[in-house]
Amino acid sequence: MSRTAGCWQSCVRHVFHYETVKTLVIPNVRVGCVFRFTQLLVLLYVVGYVCVVQKSYQEKESVVSTVTTKVKGFAFTNTSTGNWKFWDVADYVIPPQGETSLFVLTNMVVTPHQTQTRCPELPNPSTTCVDDCDCIEGLSDPRGNGIQTGLCENFSTTVRTCEVLSWCPLEIDSELPERALLASAENFTLFIKNSITYPKFNFHRRNIGSHISSSYLQSCEFHRATDPECPIFRLKHIVSEAGEEFQEMAVKGGVLGIIIDWSCDLDWWAETCHPKYSFRRLDKDPASNLAPGYNFRFAKYYKTQNEEEFRTLFKAYGIRFDVIVFGTAGRFSIVPTIVNLGAALAFLSLVPVVSDWFMLTCMRKGDLYSRHKVTHLHEDGDAEAELTSTSYGTQ
Ligand SMILES: *[C@@H]1O[C@H](CO)[C@@H](O)[C@H](O)[C@H]1NC(C)=O
Repeated sequence: MSRTAGCWQSCVRHVFHYETVKTLVIPNVRVGCVFRFTQLLVLLYVVGYVCVVQKSYQEKESVVSTVTTKVKGFAFTNTSTGNWKFWDVADYVIPPQGETSLFVLTNMVVTPHQTQTRCPELPNPSTTCVDDCDCIEGLSDPRGNGIQTGLCENFSTTVRTCEVLSWCPLEIDSELPERALLASAENFTLFIKNSITYPKFNFHRRNIGSHISSSYLQSCEFHRATDPECPIFRLKHIVSEAGEEFQEMAVKGGVLGIIIDWSCDLDWWAETCHPKYSFRRLDKDPASNLAPGYNFRFAKYYKTQNEEEFRTLFKAYGIRFDVIVFGTAGRFSIVPTIVNLGAALAFLSLVPVVSDWFMLTCMRKGDLYSRHKVTHLHEDGDAEAELTSTSYGTQ
């Protein structure tokens, strides 16, 4: 009875007690240095990294962008058979409407007048045969050119191959012109119109800024040093900026990334928010040169006067230009400022921990400090009563 009452009394007393932390002042230069140095590190982190580098006081948003492109230039080709051909945009840009990705044809293998008949396969170890037994009727090998008929035919005077049902004659793409057909594509120009917006900040821009005059636009050409803002690019120039040789790339094609960086700080330099262009070859990298190049096939279909269908097959090699737009803009906002500042300042609570550790372990008088810092209580008697008497020194 009395025990319960005593406990209850002490509980009530505790509610109306104020507890405060006892401070131990260590008059030691080394500990003081560690304390101030740790404080300095935390402040440097807050000011240098959080505010200046990360700009954590800003609200961030990613760019939203649209791109249209237009290629200009003419070419004139001469084939070995003496045929010449004039080329304009409608001939070499496929498909004709340019968007973030456009293809400029530079080389091709043409197989004219193909009809649906039977012809011997191109020779390779799996298609050569001695007689009909080596060929399986109905076999369609995805690496082959058609469906086998089960017959073994003369491909040439020396080689026999399995006959296939296909568009014949078959395309022989191993005879690719070594100098690109449209070598003069290096002088074509590419005009990129890029419009961006940061919806959260109601910020809109084009890569043709208001400070660019129309007469400048008609005559300029992008150059990193002299014309970094001109949106007209000579193909040879951007391929060489990507560290590649145009004529070499034109033979087997490739993919070239035109990377537009719109990262801006809208607090201080919104007026100078201009795009930065860079270029990179995407279909191969220096570490691995496997399967570079870019090509695809398309055909044009015709009918003879007897209503028989035939086609001309094109294997088109060329450079695909991918326009990649990225960027992040930031503008001051109170909410991220408070949140990030709070998170950063929480590191200040680490300072006493580091200083205490140094004081207790690295100093000669560590034991003395430890005895003053940590007060051990005796276990006899009522623990709560002991605590009260020890705290106030009244017995
Ligand atoms: C591209 O233009 C330059 C200069 O205008 C010229 O010297 C060069 O021969 C042209 N390239 C081709 C492949 O026609």
